[in-house]
Order: sequence, then structure tokens, then C-alpha cells
Amino acid sequence: MPNPIRLLGISGSLRRPSLNSALLRAALDVLPEGVVLATHDLRSVPLFDGDVEQVGYPVSVVELREAIRAADGVLFVTPEYNYSYPGVLKNALDWVSRGKDQPLRRKPVAVAGASPSGFGTVRAQLALRQVFQALDARDLQRPELHVANAAGLFSPQGELTDEATREKLRALLSAFVEMVRSPLVLAE
Ligand code: FNR
Repeated sequence: MPNPIRLLGISGSLRRPSLNSALLRAALDVLPEGVVLATHDLRSVPLFDGDVEQVGYPVSVVELREAIRAADGVLFVTPEYNYSYPGVLKNALDWVSRGKDQPLRRKPVAVAGASPSGFGTVRAQLALRQVFQALDARDLQRPELHVANAAGLFSPQGELTDEATREKLRALLSAFVEMVRSPLVLAE
């Protein structure tokens, strides 16, 4: 059996009953065949500090960078905070962005997000895509997944109960894995 495609999922929310972490968990049920998904928590990543960086990356930063490096692709599932994505995620990306060996360079990435509002994290996702550009990540463009009015789409236990959203999540993962499997052709 060939090696599985290894995806890493990162939620931009630290909240235990997070809608976005729940959406990320729901991805486990709709993975294409031959694909595994691990998640990585950002809770232990300290605030970026250039003085600390000079001494050496904190353990949690090393672990995050290595988890990204080891993955074939990274799925970010993010809330929208004040028309952008949370500082927790930006802070983590700032740590990841450093050095010649920054692990998101040319790494396939995809984004999804859930919000109780009607906009479904459209603005947060656009802001995140701008950072993907800075990091030279391979950013899946379609399909987009903006889960609006999300509070009504999950059970109190955090299970996705909406079939239409589950199918959109399945389609996103399918397109993402197709992208991960397709080789990157670089110009000379
Ligand atoms: C929000 N929320 C929010 N929602 C939105 O659609 N657009 C926005 O700009 C904001 N801004 C915002 C700022 C801050 C500081 C907070 C805490 C919240 C609401 C947000 O979408 C909601 O709290 C989600 O439930 C957060 O995601 P998780 O934690 O459920 O994954």
C-alpha cells in the first residue's frame, strides 16, 4: 500500500467549544481514501519575540514548524475576528515564517472557516491568503468554504449536523488532496 497523504489541520481558535475546531474535526469524516489528518494546537505557542528568536525557537515553535514540514499539506480553519483572522494564528505564522528553511514555502495550503454571522469568514480568509502569498505557500483557490450562520450547524457536542456543509467540506478536501498529489512545476 502506498504511503498515505499526510495533512495537518490547524484551528485559529483556542476555545474548547470552537465552531472552527469542530469544523476541523468534521474533516476527519470526509477524508479522501489514503489520506490521514493530524491536528496541531496553537495554545502553547508564545508571543513572537525577536529576542527569544535570537536565542533559539521555543520548543512549541520547533514542534509546530516540524509538524508543518512533515505534512504534505496544511488545512487552516479560522474564525473571523474584526474582519481578519485571529492574532493567535498570525502569531504562529510569524514564528513559522522565519529562516531560509521556513516550512510553508511551496507547501500546499487550504483554508476554511466558520462564523455565526452571515459572512462565514470571507474577510478573514482573504487576509490569511495575503499571508500565504508572503510565505510563498501553494494556496488552493477553489472551492472556497465559508460556513455562515454556523451556530445552527453543529450539535451542542460540536458535531457537524448539516449535510450540505459536510459535502462542501468533502469537496474542499478532495480538491486539496488532488492539488497535493499534483507535482509543482517550477520555472528555471
Ligand atoms: C468575533 N466574531 C466575528 N465574527 C465575524 O463574522 N466577523 C467578525 O469580524 C468578528 N469579530 C470578532 C472579534 C472577536 C474579538 C471575537 C471574539 C469574535 C464572532 C466570531 O465569529 C465567533 O465568536 C466565533 O464563534 C469564533 O470562532 P470559534 O471560536 O467558535 O471557532
